[in-house]
Amino acid sequence: MPFTGKNRASLFLISLFFMWSSLFSYSCAANSLSQGQLVRDGETLVSRSGNFKLGFFRTENSSLRYVGIWYRKISFKTCVWVANRDSPLSDESGVLTISSDGNLVVLDGDHRLVWSSGINSSSVPTNSTAVLTDAGNLVLLANADADTASADGHVSNAYWQSFEHPTDTFLPGMRVRVNSVAGENHNLRSWRSLNDPSPGNYSMGIDPRLPPQIVIWGQSGREWRSGHWNGLVFTGMPNMTSDIQNGFRLSAPEEDGSMYFTYTPLNRSNLLMFRILWNGMGEELGWDETDNELTVLKKQPAKECDVYNKCGDFAICNEMGSPKCSCMEGFIPKSPDQWKRGNWSMGCTWKTRLQCGNNSSISVGDGGRMDRFLKLDGVKLPDFADYFSATIGDECEVKCLENCSCKAYAFVKGIWCMMWSKNLIDVEHFAEGGMTLQIRLANSEPGTKSKISNLRMIVTAFVGAFVSGITVFLLWRFKDNLKGFLFDDIVKSEEQYLDLSRPDGLASDAKQVGGPDIPVFDFSSIEAATNVFSEENKLGLGGFGPVYKGKLLGGQEIAVKRLSRKSSQGVEEFKNEVMVIARLQHRNLVRLLGFCIQGEDKMLVYEYMPNRSLDYFIFW
Ligand SMILES: *[C@@H]1O[C@H](CO)[C@@H](O)[C@H](O)[C@H]1NC(C)=O
Ligand SMILES: *[C@@H]1O[C@H](CO)[C@@H](O)[C@H](O)[C@H]1NC(C)=O
Ligand SMILES: *[C@@H]1O[C@H](CO)[C@@H](O)[C@H](O)[C@H]1NC(C)=O
Ligand SMILES: *[C@@H]1O[C@H](CO)[C@@H](O)[C@H](O)[C@H]1NC(C)=O
Ligand SMILES: *[C@@H]1O[C@H](CO)[C@@H](O)[C@H](O)[C@H]1NC(C)=O
Ligand SMILES: *[C@@H]1O[C@H](CO)[C@@H](O)[C@H](O)[C@H]1NC(C)=O
Ligand SMILES: *[C@@H]1O[C@H](CO)[C@@H](O)[C@H](O)[C@H]1NC(C)=O
Ligand SMILES: *[C@@H]1O[C@H](CO)[C@@H](O)[C@H](O)[C@H]1NC(C)=O
Ligand SMILES: *[C@@H]1O[C@H](CO)[C@@H](O)[C@H](O)[C@H]1NC(C)=O
Ligand SMILES: *[C@@H]1O[C@H](CO)[C@@H](O)[C@H](O)[C@H]1NC(C)=O
Repeated sequence: MPFTGKNRASLFLISLFFMWSSLFSYSCAANSLSQGQLVRDGETLVSRSGNFKLGFFRTENSSLRYVGIWYRKISFKTCVWVANRDSPLSDESGVLTISSDGNLVVLDGDHRLVWSSGINSSSVPTNSTAVLTDAGNLVLLANADADTASADGHVSNAYWQSFEHPTDTFLPGMRVRVNSVAGENHNLRSWRSLNDPSPGNYSMGIDPRLPPQIVIWGQSGREWRSGHWNGLVFTGMPNMTSDIQNGFRLSAPEEDGSMYFTYTPLNRSNLLMFRILWNGMGEELGWDETDNELTVLKKQPAKECDVYNKCGDFAICNEMGSPKCSCMEGFIPKSPDQWKRGNWSMGCTWKTRLQCGNNSSISVGDGGRMDRFLKLDGVKLPDFADYFSATIGDECEVKCLENCSCKAYAFVKGIWCMMWSKNLIDVEHFAEGGMTLQIRLANSEPGTKSKISNLRMIVTAFVGAFVSGITVFLLWRFKDNLKGFLFDDIVKSEEQYLDLSRPDGLASDAKQVGGPDIPVFDFSSIEAATNVFSEENKLGLGGFGPVYKGKLLGGQEIAVKRLSRKSSQGVEEFKNEVMVIARLQHRNLVRLLGFCIQGEDKMLVYEYMPNRSLDYFIFW
């Protein structure tokens, strides 16, 4: 933070303050710092939980001193945040205090400003307090709010908080903004080297192009990406699928369209934090109680094929393959000589040119129909997708066929339709898991299947089977794992609709069923809302049963999915489905408001959105 002339007056005040307040210097471990108090080199603030500490440190083999926050142990290795990473102190005479203008500041031995939280002084109260919360967040609050700072994560009434200015570490409760208008979010910036906290060559953050992904950037662009978020997992990390308790959540979009990712580990003794290392490695860290040290649980990129775009255009990287890179079926190396030598940089190109766009006497639509799709299973989908939320599988294929710039498409649960108009890059083949990519090839290319004539039939059947398959799989796979999910936000925001009378029997019955607090609607209010399930209120018939439109007493419009009676689904399975759906809250999915059980009748209640296509209600 440069120290300019206009701040000279406040510098004087700071100095005065400094001298006056040295009398009240800090000695015992507290979690807050109010105006007039100091943290000197050697002293620490400690969060109430004792997990996080704030103070001065130096790195190994260096005499430069920094103000930072550590986890558990005072060491540069457990450092999760650094204040003055650009402007270290050269000796131990520094102090951390709150300046007269309300900002948090680090001053050197000559009372010169080294670092400041840098908020416009007109928007900070003159008497503010800094609190180190149990989540490891250093927050600056108006005095009156100091007691509310026990919040676990982002603190909404803070003037400034370290969680909004992270250095190289992502902690549970932090929020990473996803806003396509604001562009890529290079949220974390690596240290320059193991011993140097100043900003380094690598950053990690979110690519906000929907569906969002986590990306590691180096100096020359992307080095790794997680694959697209589908509301549940990052699709390029197949092992994440096996762990539904991954704790990641994408918030609902706010008014300006921005959302945020946050991370809440369900078991805090497991994964604790994410970090971008000075050498470009992304680390997932846990805490080892026996060694009293952070332990690396996972690194990214973990293997050769995780390295971004290792094989070039239209190629697939397979860790088990020899060589690891091969062209997609229907493609040949652009430079066969280089390719044979293991130089993958040129990538591959079509063996047979696509008809589409290559012959002006063929109209775009017809030209498109002369191409076919080849299915590629078990892959990390290529980067730079365009996506369409309001389509179903067959529409996705037709959409791609009809647009000559579409080179591939994929229909992914939770994301819906993805299409690629750029060359397909960074595709990895997984031994297990992964997505299905449909690649466009010329009709004459052997191995492609004709499906023009009965396209809709086949695809519709496929999508139906796929969706029910996934649901059944999710229900089966996670039925034991789903306890303890957090639905607080859903519950809180929807509580207002639920002040309807609930017959005691039903409520307690449903409580047993619901486990966590998913709102329960009573049957009579659903009957009233849907005009006793009248034909006029029927929106359509889905795979699981009819869907009705309705209106609650409070005016809230709802869509009620009445699961068909003949389904043999028991109460336990139903409970699991409710939880899976609640878990899958996603921008592209309608919001689940709650559920209702009346004897054999089981119903899911969604927010009704008139502008959304019916598919949403039918599939979910
Ligand atoms: C510090 O310096 C010593 C001796 O040069 C070296 O062995 C050690 O690896 C260094 N530590 C770090 C963290 O660089
Ligand atoms: C601080 O805020 C005031 C009032 O909003 C504004 O006039 C001023 O330009 C701001 N100063 C800086 C440095 O942003
Ligand atoms: C700021 O508030 C704290 C706590 O309420 C109080 O102890 C301190 O004297 C106040 N400082 C000033 C300059 O008002
Ligand atoms: C997934 O985990 C298993 C076992 O931990 C491991 O063998 C496998 O390589 C992992 N797969 C990927 C793609 O990381
Ligand atoms: C959390 O994880 C630890 C270590 O994996 C395990 O021992 C403990 O039982 C888990 N706690 C809960 C509540 O799942
Ligand atoms: C970071 O970039 C600089 C300048 O290009 C280079 O000299 C340095 O070796 C790089 N550091 C790492 C860790 O890659
Ligand atoms: C790989 O191929 C590209 C394009 O032909 C060439 O520019 C580059 O020098 C080659 N790299 C190596 C290491 O041979
Ligand atoms: C059109 O097709 C011909 C022959 O199949 C090929 O040589 C040419 O490069 C293609 N042109 C475009 C623009 O794709
Ligand atoms: C374009 O398509 C027409 C009709 O199929 C065909 O007669 C003509 O030879 C094609 N031209 C080229 C350059 O491929
Ligand atoms: C074809 O796809 C591209 C890229 O997705 C898009 O920009 C273009 O508008 C589409 N064209 C038509 C006719 O839909």
